[in-house]
Amino acid sequence: MNLSTVVITTITKVYIVDPLNPREDVIESCCEDVKKRGAIVVFPTETVYGLGAYVFNANAVRKIFIAKGRPPDNPLIIHVTGIDQVYEVAEDIPDIVLKIARIAWPGPLTVILKKRREVPPEVSGGLPTVAVRVPAHPVALKLIECVGPIAAPSANISGRPSPTEPHHVYVDMFGRADIILDAGETFFGIESTIVDLTSDPPKLLRPGAFPYEKLVEIVGRKIVVPDVAKGLKESSIALAPGMKYKHYAPRTPLLVVEAEDYSDIDGYAKKVLEVAEERCRDRKCVLLASKETEWIYREKGFTTLIIGSRYNIYEIAKNLFSVLRDLDRLGVDLGIVEGFPEIGLGLAVMNRLRKASGYNIVRVSTC
Ligand code: TXA
Ligand code: MG
Repeated sequence: MNLSTVVITTITKVYIVDPLNPREDVIESCCEDVKKRGAIVVFPTETVYGLGAYVFNANAVRKIFIAKGRPPDNPLIIHVTGIDQVYEVAEDIPDIVLKIARIAWPGPLTVILKKRREVPPEVSGGLPTVAVRVPAHPVALKLIECVGPIAAPSANISGRPSPTEPHHVYVDMFGRADIILDAGETFFGIESTIVDLTSDPPKLLRPGAFPYEKLVEIVGRKIVVPDVAKGLKESSIALAPGMKYKHYAPRTPLLVVEAEDYSDIDGYAKKVLEVAEERCRDRKCVLLASKETEWIYREKGFTTLIIGSRYNIYEIAKNLFSVLRDLDRLGVDLGIVEGFPEIGLGLAVMNRLRKASGYNIVRVSTC
């Protein structure tokens, strides 16, 4: 049975909340539903919206997998308020986690640690480890403070781009989640960085909103970056189990045009244009481009979607999932998307784009 085709008719309670100062009574009522009644709740984090359950309620955790149509071997991230709660879900915690907690938390950095027995296997997809992070969002923190640790994947239907705006959440989760806490746009728009601290040397499992370079600085040693983490190849083995599944994908086929070097923006745009002119002779295409280059394609008659400025990779990361969803509304045959340098959040952006395209990549030379 394909889980994503199951018709689910949950009555969803919706609360509009102030992202910085949510009403106490709303948080308390939501907390009671989650803790006492096993409700599953869509809540904002600084990265993307999550779909959460109380971590020690295995039945509620199972409801998350059904609501998302998520394969049961793809584990969830546990959201906690700080280092004290890390001890409730993990053990044999290395000292470096204390430093990470001091410098990077709350923030978009997830660490893989050894699981405590008390955490139900549903949360970890049967693995002996758990993923843990402290989200930097007042609504998430207030909710976790009341409920305790919350297990939550991104609040999208499995395989779809993560929700960064309320309407994404309504489209994917209305009638599937028990509660939606609508707090407007999320801050980063791209998921957390995941680092495995149970392997030696530590391993980057997913680049994300916390820059890799900053992570290396904190950890003070080499961090292995496997090709799968760059999105350069598909993983058939369970590195981060989620990485072996199709991800972030729009329904429209996508092609990524990559270059070694993006410093000559006009030269690069000309190459993208050549690719587009060739591929779009007998197809309806949309070009997903930066503010700086979008006009070049538009002048040649192409429909375009602007992702953000090349000079602000945070903006590109923030708008990425939203633009991928917009692409589907245009009903074209192909989306052609520009590439970006893999520096800072650029590493995460390229990982998501390569996966969203199903590894449909063209490499051009700008020299
Ligand atoms: O920013 C984020 O990380 C968002 C917000 C809601 O916190 N969450 C999120 O969760 O992106 P999700 O489920 O969409 O992605 C979590 C990833 C998956 O690829 C999963 O396989 C991996 O984390 N993961 C979870 N537990 C793991 C473990 N014990 N070992 C290896 N990978 C793990
Ligand atoms: Mg996800």
